[in-house]
Amino acid sequence: MTDAAKAAAAVDEDRLWRRHMEMARLGATPAGGVRRLALDANDNEARRRLVDWARGFGFACALDPIGNLFIRREGSLREAPPVMTGSHTDTQPSGGKFDGIYGVLAACEALEALERAQIATRRPIEAVVWTCEEGGARFPMGTMGSSAFAGVRPLADILKVTDDAGISVEEALRGTRAALKGVPERPLGCQVAAFIEAHIEQGPELEARGLTIGVVTAIQGARRFLVEIAGEDAHAGTTTRARRKDALSAAVRMVSALERVFHDDPTDTVRFTVGRFRISPDAPAVVPGHALFTIDFRHPDEAVLTKLGDQVEALCRAQAGPCAVTVTETSRSRPVPFTSHVPDVIESAAARLDYARMRILSGAGHDAMHLAKLCPTGMIFVPCEKGISHNETENATAADLAAGTRVLAASLVELANA
Ligand code: GLV
Ligand code: MN
Ligand code: MN
Repeated sequence: MTDAAKAAAAVDEDRLWRRHMEMARLGATPAGGVRRLALDANDNEARRRLVDWARGFGFACALDPIGNLFIRREGSLREAPPVMTGSHTDTQPSGGKFDGIYGVLAACEALEALERAQIATRRPIEAVVWTCEEGGARFPMGTMGSSAFAGVRPLADILKVTDDAGISVEEALRGTRAALKGVPERPLGCQVAAFIEAHIEQGPELEARGLTIGVVTAIQGARRFLVEIAGEDAHAGTTTRARRKDALSAAVRMVSALERVFHDDPTDTVRFTVGRFRISPDAPAVVPGHALFTIDFRHPDEAVLTKLGDQVEALCRAQAGPCAVTVTETSRSRPVPFTSHVPDVIESAAARLDYARMRILSGAGHDAMHLAKLCPTGMIFVPCEKGISHNETENATAADLAAGTRVLAASLVELANA
């Protein structure tokens, strides 16, 4: 048996499932989901448990300045850049039990499998928890830790970002460091030999086709906007239609106009979401003087992202009526193709393990999109029930989670010995 096959064979499905259920208690919601916001007490506790687990095997742990946690299994070439694998422990406000945490627990299970099977690798392998992947859940910015690590955004700017309560990332990180007392610091960024992120698909393709493994070929691009409308608060009983500057009415017209443009039937590739919609003063007897909404627009083709995304401001202005409107583009990420040999390594590992598989595009964003700028990168998808994610009912089977982890363990051995 090869070392890659031995590593895969040492992955323990029950242990992996039990750990998912244990982690799901940290921030458990009454409806069976998880609310574990970035750097909150539950997120810190999840990391603390991972550190406890790592210490049990003698794996070295370290925290970088943005709070990314690294758990290292040493290789014979101690100075060689490590192979990394991991994902995130934070969730959406009403998230599920698998988004993010699966990639972290799969990474740890792979390290444990290598350790138990006494497999030596040339390169070190590091399991990573990337800080705050979920944009807009607690902090407005997502993929915070991985983008700082990859140098995509300056650390100083990220540390200043605040949540709705005015707590900055810098302040929140003090709590994380306190929870992880004794974990040494390491500098931001390093050379990386290769990166793999395991994740539930968050879409319906694998389940619908009866497949076990998705070999991700690319992550689609995304543009996000904040639209703010200023009208005038007014008395609901005395203000005539002609005198109203109703920010809600203007916002509703804008969303309708945008929805008429942001679709591409019958291919249905355009993803257009207004996920936040707020009015103020939010009182039944007051004409709302202020409204804001967000736009999350995604597509695999950069040309479409440009063509449609560049129309947002004009479409909103055309519907503003007597109100003033400000459109701010809050983030833009290009589509990221995984062009290295890593998808081939993953596909070969899945084939050797005899898992039914397909190449697949990721509709969701992931930390892997920033790592792809640094090193050869790939992702392993496993099916999730009905493709449901960012939802408290998100579900996956123990068998599929273990299958993805076996493919991960085998791929890591290949990459760490290359
Ligand atoms: C990440 O969770 C995303 O919204 O794509
Ligand atoms: Mn995720
Ligand atoms: Mn997510």
